[in-house]
Amino acid sequence: MQNNDLLADRLTETLSDNTFFLEKAGSRRLVTRDLVHEEYRIWDPYRSKLAGLILKGSSVSIKSTYSVLYLGAANGTTASHVSDIVSEGTVFAVEFSTRTMQDLIKISVQRANLVPILADVRYPESYKNMMPKVDIIYQDVAQRDQAGIAIRNAELHLKKDGLLILMIKSRSINSVRKNYEVIDEEVNKLKRFFKVEELLDLEPFQSDHKAAVVTKKSQ
Ligand SMILES: C[S@@+](CC[C@H](N)C(=O)[O-])C[C@H]1O[C@@H](n2cnc3c(N)ncnc32)[C@H](O)[C@@H]1O
Repeated sequence: MQNNDLLADRLTETLSDNTFFLEKAGSRRLVTRDLVHEEYRIWDPYRSKLAGLILKGSSVSIKSTYSVLYLGAANGTTASHVSDIVSEGTVFAVEFSTRTMQDLIKISVQRANLVPILADVRYPESYKNMMPKVDIIYQDVAQRDQAGIAIRNAELHLKKDGLLILMIKSRSINSVRKNYEVIDEEVNKLKRFFKVEELLDLEPFQSDHKAAVVTKKSQ
């Protein structure tokens, strides 16, 4: 997207650093300030559930200094925007598909704060020695035991006062049962260890998903 100071008066801040709403021709787009080039990048909520969460009015605030553990980074579409946001921090991006990892590695070459990790998120101890505890865990994996994976990763990798953002995809867990039943069950599992701060659907950007934003109970 064009980069010039003329943009500045059309940008309004969001709750997260380096993330803005751009007012353009009567419409409002979410953008992040590109870490690599001097420009703003459109962040598409139809391609990124985290962008959808922000547009749905979440109170999540990601600071530029935060460290983030990203579980299910795929080819880095969302992870690259998180890398824009935590410009003074680090994104540890875990992905188990070797094909997808190749794209992620290409992106990380330009982004010093994006650390790709080839691993299976069901085994969080396998990357324990590669990273410190983080401020935020963001999880977007199509697996059956989504809450269990989140709980085990948080236990090992999340700071005491950290935040876990879990994108729950009901179809990956059970394609036969009703969406809300499957999601309720996952949320109930989370409630044993976490306080649920937000539970938002991502319509119209994503269907069959619910975003849970939770903090550790011991706080
Ligand atoms: C829905 S996609 C993630 C999209 C990505 N969050 C984005 O917005 O750009 C889910 C990803 O999780 C990965 N994944 C699924 N199970 C995994 C596992 N057990 N360990 C690591 N990655 C996994 C898949 O390979 C896939 O790339």
